[in-house]
Amino acid sequence: MTETPTRLREYEADLVVESVDQAADGVVVLTLSHPAGDALPPWTPGAHVDLVLTPDLVRQYSLCSSPTDSHRLQVGVLRAEDSRGGSTFIHDNLVVGSTVLTRGPRNHFPLVASPRYLFIAGGIGVTPMLPMIEEAVATGADWQLVYGGRSRASMAFLPILEQYGDRVTLLPRDEVDRSLSQRIDDLLGTPTSGTLVYCCGPEPLLSAVEQACTSWPDGTLHLERFHAKASEEGQVDTSFEVVLARSGLTIQVSADESIFRAVEGVGIPVLGSCHEGVCGTCETVVLEGDVDHRDVVLNDSEKASNETMMVCVSRCNGDRLVIDL
Ligand code: FES
Repeated sequence: MTETPTRLREYEADLVVESVDQAADGVVVLTLSHPAGDALPPWTPGAHVDLVLTPDLVRQYSLCSSPTDSHRLQVGVLRAEDSRGGSTFIHDNLVVGSTVLTRGPRNHFPLVASPRYLFIAGGIGVTPMLPMIEEAVATGADWQLVYGGRSRASMAFLPILEQYGDRVTLLPRDEVDRSLSQRIDDLLGTPTSGTLVYCCGPEPLLSAVEQACTSWPDGTLHLERFHAKASEEGQVDTSFEVVLARSGLTIQVSADESIFRAVEGVGIPVLGSCHEGVCGTCETVVLEGDVDHRDVVLNDSEKASNETMMVCVSRCNGDRLVIDL
């Protein structure tokens, strides 16, 4: 059994919006602090928080401030054209003095120590790169950021990034002959040992980078997705048994329900937020059984290790799982 048990509690507080700053066309940066001035939980580069905008509207946003500031958290929010409600709500409703229930921070995109990093960001995917760059600078690592966007006006944080000179390559599509997605082969065509690749941005960019990194050493690529992946063709949901080892209960999960809902249904507490396999809140330790992983939180080697699972979406490849709940 892995030594870290399933988390059943995390920080949650109504934070106050201290400022709302326009960071680019359609992008605002919210600065959040505790109403009583209390210190906020520590976090590391790559972490995100949940903003609970309404009881049914919970969204994850990467932190773009400095982990050394223990009293303020900042998130950058793009008003997404295909918004499912979160970014529109934030842009239209949150003003200085608003409160927003905030959970976390949690980190499924941690910066692993390395002598060299290649950061690749598309659009608002640049937000987690800011604290990562701060850490890379602090540790003396060699690093490059390649940052693509629609136009300079739509690309957030340029004044901060321009200070880093030629470590940062800006690729506004309306100025360059080849966009970021057309340069993936140039960037990643030759596997290099000792370099870790961190990428955040729209799904086509993530998929292209994932594809290009298949010939790189294992563990090179670190991605962050904030949207569930489409279900795989031919994916079938079956029923199976789940043993809740801590509670001493055995439950049957039917083909049309999640483990999360089945566990909740028998009154066992389980932490959850997104219910689509993207936030990592419901990560649960697996004690026995073969998991059918369907989340976008764990990387391939974490999935292969079968140590934990996201019980909101992942299922069982056989007929029985034993989990730490
Ligand atoms: Fe978000 Fe399960 S609740 S990953």
